[in-house]
Amino acid sequence: AALVRYNFVVQETNYTRLCSSKNILTVNGQYPGPTISARRGDTVIVDVINQATQNITIHWHGVKLPRYPWSDGPEFITQCPIQPGARFSQKIILSDEEGTLWWHAHSDWSRATVHGLLVVLPKIGTTFPFPKPHAEVPVILGDWWKNDIQTVMEDFMRRGDDPAPSDALTINGQPGDLYNCSRPETTKVNVDKGKTYMLRMVNAAMNNIMFFAIASHELIVVGTDGAYTKPLKTNYLTISPGQTIDVLLVANQPRDHYYMAAKFYNSNPRSVFDNTTTTAIIQYNGKYTTSTPSPALPPLPAFNDRNASANFTSSLRSLASVDHPIDVPMTITRKLLYTLSINTLPCASNTTCFGPRGNRFAASINNITFDAPRTSILGAYYRGINGVYGDEFPDNPPFSFDYTASNLSTSLQTPMNGTEVKILNYNDTVELVFQGTNVVSGIDHPMHLHGYSFYVVGSGFGNFDRQRDPLNYNLVDPPLQQTIAVPQNGWTAIRFRANNPGVWFMHCHFERHVSWGMEMVFIVKNGKGAHERILPPPKDMPKC
Ligand code: C2O
Ligand code: CU
Repeated sequence: AALVRYNFVVQETNYTRLCSSKNILTVNGQYPGPTISARRGDTVIVDVINQATQNITIHWHGVKLPRYPWSDGPEFITQCPIQPGARFSQKIILSDEEGTLWWHAHSDWSRATVHGLLVVLPKIGTTFPFPKPHAEVPVILGDWWKNDIQTVMEDFMRRGDDPAPSDALTINGQPGDLYNCSRPETTKVNVDKGKTYMLRMVNAAMNNIMFFAIASHELIVVGTDGAYTKPLKTNYLTISPGQTIDVLLVANQPRDHYYMAAKFYNSNPRSVFDNTTTTAIIQYNGKYTTSTPSPALPPLPAFNDRNASANFTSSLRSLASVDHPIDVPMTITRKLLYTLSINTLPCASNTTCFGPRGNRFAASINNITFDAPRTSILGAYYRGINGVYGDEFPDNPPFSFDYTASNLSTSLQTPMNGTEVKILNYNDTVELVFQGTNVVSGIDHPMHLHGYSFYVVGSGFGNFDRQRDPLNYNLVDPPLQQTIAVPQNGWTAIRFRANNPGVWFMHCHFERHVSWGMEMVFIVKNGKGAHERILPPPKDMPKC
């Protein structure tokens, strides 16, 4: 395994989109940021140098960092922020990840522009479990606000309402042909007829799950979240914020160019989000026929089609081959049921809130709205400092009700604030069922766990049934993921083995829901063996 090095200079850089300019936070001046490329099992050292005027942390999304949570990045969970002028050398220990992952800022809303791909290639001497593609193409879905993102966030927090929708969705940082002043810069992907390309996709957008398709071309999904899947042929895909998908594209069509397009999927008609369509162009090299000036858009499911979203998500299967075996826990030592709710909380005194009935929106897991501490939970845990967090995160919702009923009583709306963690023993086998609720209003939640991949063994609409639903689990080839969209007013069951000691954040990957408190922390205790313990921290951990 090799040692690979990168410098990440976080800085403010002027960018123009939609005919308007602003300073954005970037890494090395690039938006989207630089791609990190390494091989399975390598170690990557990234020297993060903060030359901006605000605090920052960087997270390697999907990298498990075995026994080394110190580099993980979520602000006040595993580290204090890197302050302006400071630096932090982050060691990224790759283990069994292979495929596309990504990295992004993990403080405030700065990940809007501070993100990029993290590509893990097969080890030297091994290959993809499919014919080598002619070329690899990044497809980074994102969103763009004309306003400064910090201002968008502060406004949203003060108002207590939904955030302002973005002004454009983007592919590789570009809104595309359908937006003002964007046409000349539209992302183009050049292809040769007859060749196969691998799209390395991530949804880096802040608040939108998206549908994606390419006109006249079939998509063959071969991986998600840094693990291979059985090839899945499809005309469209659904991709959640945080999720990565590897797709093969066979360039086999007669015309000289075609649109790829992405649009938001939102199961909750109440909220107004960016309803625009971003496009990029697949441009065939050479001239095959005369092109039409504007190619047709690919058909995409309706923006609120929750069946289309759930159907794609539940079609993914692990490759489960001899070279890429799976290891689903069969006996479970910890059964957890976590409800995911949108709630309301009273507004701070002497402010006006614009959420429901003059309150502000909040969100919770098992009725606890997470309150981030002002210092690192990992640091407090490692040094045995009391008073930073509690260890009473409940295994089950504090009271049960018909989670997905309509017109739920408003008495269910107010959650508790808390900084509670769930302690797991080393090698616990965990089954965690996420239960979406219809408190205030039901919506999909793309849930992401740090430090682990998990098997998605089942999902469905309505309330999870402890007797009946486990009978239909897929324990043969469930997909191995790190981010899973729990369907609106539905549930998703995941399984994992707690074999990575550390402090690991779990949260919804909608930024607005994180800001509202839909997050919690697992602490996985050390095992007895010498290789079952957290490694010591680096000398340059940032201080609060
Ligand atoms: Cu991609 Cu905690 O995040
Ligand atoms: Cu959510």
